[in-house]
Amino acid sequence: MPTSKLITIERHIADQQHLHPEASGEFSRLLRDLTLAVRVIQREVRRAGLADILGLAGEENVHGEAVKKLDALSNETIIRAMRYGGHLCAMASEESEGLIQIPERAEKGAYVLLFDPLDGSSNIDVNVTIGTIFSVLHRVTPSDGTVGTMEDLLQAGYRQVAAGYALYGSSTMLVYTTGDGVDAFTYDHTLGDFFLSASGLRMPERGKYYSINEGNSINWFGGTRRFVEYLKQEDSATGRPYSLRYIGTAVADIHRTLLYGGLFLYPADRKSPNGKLRLMYEVNPLAMLIEQAGGMATDGWSRVMETQPTSLHQRVPLICGSRLDVEDALRFLADDRAERDALIQQ
Ligand code: AHG
Ligand code: MN
Ligand code: MN
Repeated sequence: MPTSKLITIERHIADQQHLHPEASGEFSRLLRDLTLAVRVIQREVRRAGLADILGLAGEENVHGEAVKKLDALSNETIIRAMRYGGHLCAMASEESEGLIQIPERAEKGAYVLLFDPLDGSSNIDVNVTIGTIFSVLHRVTPSDGTVGTMEDLLQAGYRQVAAGYALYGSSTMLVYTTGDGVDAFTYDHTLGDFFLSASGLRMPERGKYYSINEGNSINWFGGTRRFVEYLKQEDSATGRPYSLRYIGTAVADIHRTLLYGGLFLYPADRKSPNGKLRLMYEVNPLAMLIEQAGGMATDGWSRVMETQPTSLHQRVPLICGSRLDVEDALRFLADDRAERDALIQQ
């Protein structure tokens, strides 16, 4: 719901902490540090277009380093903002192969952070919306000041304590949940602060958009093919035919789906039997937001947040969105299961 309250993200985080008198403040500090990283990344994103004109790209910066690509820069920004905060015991990122250690001399906290520092990389150079995705979990090994392990990172999505994304679009937004609904904040660059713009976001039960890379249709299984055909048929009761919207930045496609409803699909197909998106730092956090807004997030057959992870960068299909739309999708996609399983076993 849009809000009439004029309140910054700082104040919102503090207010939420006061609702939990037992809270130590560690989690609030984690969110604040993450907000700082997002501020820095959004500044770099906004300057990226100017880099060509002003001759920054390919040159050296003040530190004598070559100017980095935005993905690498965003990755480093998050690591630098988070590793000395005292709230994390380990991190993982799309841009880093293994577990990211918290430095020896830094305090180790009770949480782990997994993130996609820059989502939608193919859209960077064409000035189309990109984002950052994050997932926060409580460690499972004892919180005794030791470093975190792979076991702390590889937890199912339903165990997330917070999840969210930053969207670098016509404005910068930060949308997150701590398991008690979804709140959205919009950045005012003149004041340098995020302001609450919607609280307790609820998505419609049914939408009028579907979002899928139709260029993959040659590899789709029969159920997916029939479902997309169904979405294009006329039916006044369900409002079909639906319109197609596909940005190719998961954050942006999910943001629209959260606000307008409808479907986002990156299904299993013959070429990619596990879909394309990454479970730990793309699908799980986006799924938590969708569920918290009243929608459904599945792998085409079951609740995707119940997938037991086996590796940091594993892929999983994602079919999510408005509840009634996802229920329709599941009826069609049930047929794809056997075909997919046979492919994986080969
Ligand atoms: P990333 O830029 O982090 O690698 O992620 C890109 C992902 C996701 O954002 C998007 O939904 C999907 O790739 C688009 O894939 P296709 O180009 O295959 O449609
Ligand atoms: Mn991504
Ligand atoms: Mn990425």
